[in-house]
Amino acid sequence: MRRLLLAIPLGFAALIIPSSAAAQPWPVAPASDGAEQISQLFWFTLVLAAIVFILVEGLLIYSSLRFRRRTPLPLTEPPQIHGNTRLEVMWATVPALILIGLFGITVTRLGEIDQIPTDPKVMHISVTGQQFSWTFEYGSSGIKTTNDLHLPVGQQIVFDVTSVDVIHAFWVPDLFGQIDANPGRINHITYTANQVGEFRGVCNMLCGAGHSGMLFRVTTQTPGDFQTWLQQQQSGTAAAPAPVPNPAASPSASPVVAAGGGDPAVGAQLIQQKGCPACHTIPGIPGANGTIGPDLGGVASRNPIAGGAVPNNGPQDLKAWIMNPPGLKPGTIMPNLGLTDQEATNIVAYLETLK
Ligand code: CUA
Repeated sequence: MRRLLLAIPLGFAALIIPSSAAAQPWPVAPASDGAEQISQLFWFTLVLAAIVFILVEGLLIYSSLRFRRRTPLPLTEPPQIHGNTRLEVMWATVPALILIGLFGITVTRLGEIDQIPTDPKVMHISVTGQQFSWTFEYGSSGIKTTNDLHLPVGQQIVFDVTSVDVIHAFWVPDLFGQIDANPGRINHITYTANQVGEFRGVCNMLCGAGHSGMLFRVTTQTPGDFQTWLQQQQSGTAAAPAPVPNPAASPSASPVVAAGGGDPAVGAQLIQQKGCPACHTIPGIPGANGTIGPDLGGVASRNPIAGGAVPNNGPQDLKAWIMNPPGLKPGTIMPNLGLTDQEATNIVAYLETLK
């Protein structure tokens, strides 16, 4: 019994104290203006609830001890009381007033958080959920990333959130409240990150067998770093299509050999033959503009891949993934194409050029 009594507060502590603040989503360590508002509301409600809890439980314990049955039993029955109008009115109105107050504060806060700016200068990021990954498109830059969201600090961003299949929910606990990603509809949410760091985003709606792996990484950067990153993405995407002869290029135009061996040119042909373009948009592969799977632009520098389910520390990881997707991520809709070792090596050689 004593051990059980000790386990209860320890269990609560484990819930409240994050094991690793940076890695775990943590809604009460806010890193944006909106998260700050939500966090204040959380703590306010928690403190209020704690006061009520201590008061009610304290009275209960006091009464149990003070008026417990004593031996020997008194000879006369204590006075029998029934009904106390003043008390009853009090315990009905005080909780009602507390609830009305909380409701008012919550609605006001939600109203403030939900203001979507109409100023065309505010940056928009399109967020598209699909079983089981997230695609982010940065304004009109044409830059798309998968499961890897970059945000400039101190800049207001409007997220236009939708889905191509079932209902998902877009949530970065440290940065903002969740919003549903519904097919055929665009929901908006706006926030300004105010802290440089790395956070974890999740899908917060049971959306199929791969739901728990529908994770993404959020990197908040200074506006300068963000612009540099955006430019890198831009040049990376522009360089991926068939190389255009450039007289200014260095004379040592030796063929690209990927770290994992294999021939990128053969890989590009295999990608066509195996039908990858039906599901994926792949830079440099003509006609590869599928939207069922994630866009593979920059896949080689993405870690992890497959919606956070598979690490990508080099060509061997990418190869293991494409050779047996359902084995590494149960529930994924990416099929096992039955690639031979050599085929997979060549395909990965091409994918490795997509940095
Ligand atoms: Cu998407 Cu859960």
